[in-house]
Amino acid sequence: MCGIVGAVGAELDLVSIFEGLRRLEYRGYDSAGVAIIHHGELEVAKASVARESMGVLADWLTAQPFTTGQVMVGHTRWPTHGAPTLANTHPHLDCTGDIAVVHNGIIENFRELRQALLERGHVFRSETDSEVIAHLLEEALRDGGRPADALGAVFSQLIGHMSIVVALRSYPGLLLGVRRTSPLLAASNAQQSFFASDAPAFLSLADQFYEVPEEVVVVLGEGVEGDGGVALATLEPLAIEWSSQDAVLDGFASYYEMELHQSPEAFYDTVSALMTLDHEAVVDQLLIDSYELRRVRKVVIIGCGTSYHAGLVGRYLVEHLARIPVEVDVASEYRYRDPILDADTLVVGISQSGESLETITALRECMASGARTIAITNVIGSQLSRVADAVLYTRAGPEISVASTKTHLAQIGALGMLAIYLGELKGVLYPEESKRRRQELLAMTELLRMTVQRQESWRAGMAEYLHRERFFFIGRNLLYPVAMEGALKMKELSYIAAEAYPAGELKHGPIAMLDEQAVVVALLGKDRLHEKMLSNLEEVRARGAKLVVVAVDGDTSPTDLADTILRVPQSDALWSPLLMVLPLQVLAGWMAQIRGYDLDKPRNLAKTVTVE
Ligand code: F6R
Repeated sequence: MCGIVGAVGAELDLVSIFEGLRRLEYRGYDSAGVAIIHHGELEVAKASVARESMGVLADWLTAQPFTTGQVMVGHTRWPTHGAPTLANTHPHLDCTGDIAVVHNGIIENFRELRQALLERGHVFRSETDSEVIAHLLEEALRDGGRPADALGAVFSQLIGHMSIVVALRSYPGLLLGVRRTSPLLAASNAQQSFFASDAPAFLSLADQFYEVPEEVVVVLGEGVEGDGGVALATLEPLAIEWSSQDAVLDGFASYYEMELHQSPEAFYDTVSALMTLDHEAVVDQLLIDSYELRRVRKVVIIGCGTSYHAGLVGRYLVEHLARIPVEVDVASEYRYRDPILDADTLVVGISQSGESLETITALRECMASGARTIAITNVIGSQLSRVADAVLYTRAGPEISVASTKTHLAQIGALGMLAIYLGELKGVLYPEESKRRRQELLAMTELLRMTVQRQESWRAGMAEYLHRERFFFIGRNLLYPVAMEGALKMKELSYIAAEAYPAGELKHGPIAMLDEQAVVVALLGKDRLHEKMLSNLEEVRARGAKLVVVAVDGDTSPTDLADTILRVPQSDALWSPLLMVLPLQVLAGWMAQIRGYDLDKPRNLAKTVTVE
């Protein structure tokens, strides 16, 4: 949440550093700002015109007489303290105007710190918690201390999870960074070094990335050895597999559409990396001993939003394929439930970004109770991957659009592979059966490719519902989480009231809401609940609501009931969530487009949520 960049080096090309910041816009886009040190001057520019802030800043930058600088820091904001106004936009300065700070996270004790600073005569210009850092640094540097020591002393006073980057006019060859839980990477090329919240910022500029350790001040720049803190050379290199091309719009109008299109490849890369050509499990990523996994008596899956929905699908997969009881919960709830865990519990934390604070903290608490943990994440070296005992990476490439698409499918793929492996270890699946299941899962790639090609036919059927304002998504068994994901996509992209229910639950209350204005989107699998689902469709029909049915090819049973049928290919019912979610993702995106909304940057949201 909030994107941070920093760069230091001779003759920095400011436009390319700014482009790095632009690539982090998915982290927050209510306002944005930069501070630049050039020829001994500290220049600050800010914009707070919601999704247009980057454009305004880009215009400002190109209008400047200078094109290079020694230091640049930048920030794109998702507000926590204070409205998205210019005053609250980062970078924040101290009273002298010489210290520029960008910050991501929350300072929980900022009220006390701010009050004390006000009493000592400091003047605040914003309502943010972040501004206290600049004023505290002003005091810490006043006595002539070294910059890194000063930032270290300030950081030790701040309570909360955060990352900070600081530029100082009096030290134009230096850039300082420090973090606690929140992400911050360092990167470099032959002449320059960088900080960024996430790798896509500098994929095209840097040739090496490094982990910024927690709680230590990292100093970038020339001759930093004498400045205290930790220099780049001592950091652990990070293997980033993404290329700069991965994050570039490839002829698509939005990342959402591009990433939806990339789903089959994201799924294939994830699943194939976890098996040999002969469909045996590849478990070198899974650092938990097979003996311990055999002992597992309960699996707990936690995540937020779309990742949580993948976890709900995972429950059915693990219970069916491994016959182990599974609990699934949203991370922010699970942590405070006083959960019952022991060494025979396996906890799986799912997070595309690997940064969702609630998933990280919940996983940490599970570890403290003795449970073994696995992270499923898309970001190598992310916080979640470091906290967990083991990691299964989804290999979806960078996902820029705020609303997840391809990573959701990759998460289900990783969960499927985990379920098969557990089934094999537990002796529920014979080796030949588990190989067959893996082969079957991998073969879903081709069906996904076929399904993605059907977008136009789905759109044709949906035209008459574009101006409806009330949607209900229903499904049964492992299609119920798919209904939940469909409703979430509809809400976050089109801002339309959409609710999801298990189809059998409709008659216990929600059916009272159905009338001619409501649209019910029903997921009709060709599975053992098919007949029961048809009865639910009859109930909807009888209340006059419009009925859209997602059904598999060749299933003629909904023909007389549905107003519209969206077709997906036939598959094993166990893997059908992979296919059935696609029309729902397309539908939500299309509704948003028709209404003129930004598909990649829905209002009030950010791609990574690093606050509780
Ligand atoms: C919805 C969406 C969010 C995220 C949620 C968790 O499309 O993207 O609901 O799924 O914020 O994020 P991660 O997976 O990064 O932990």
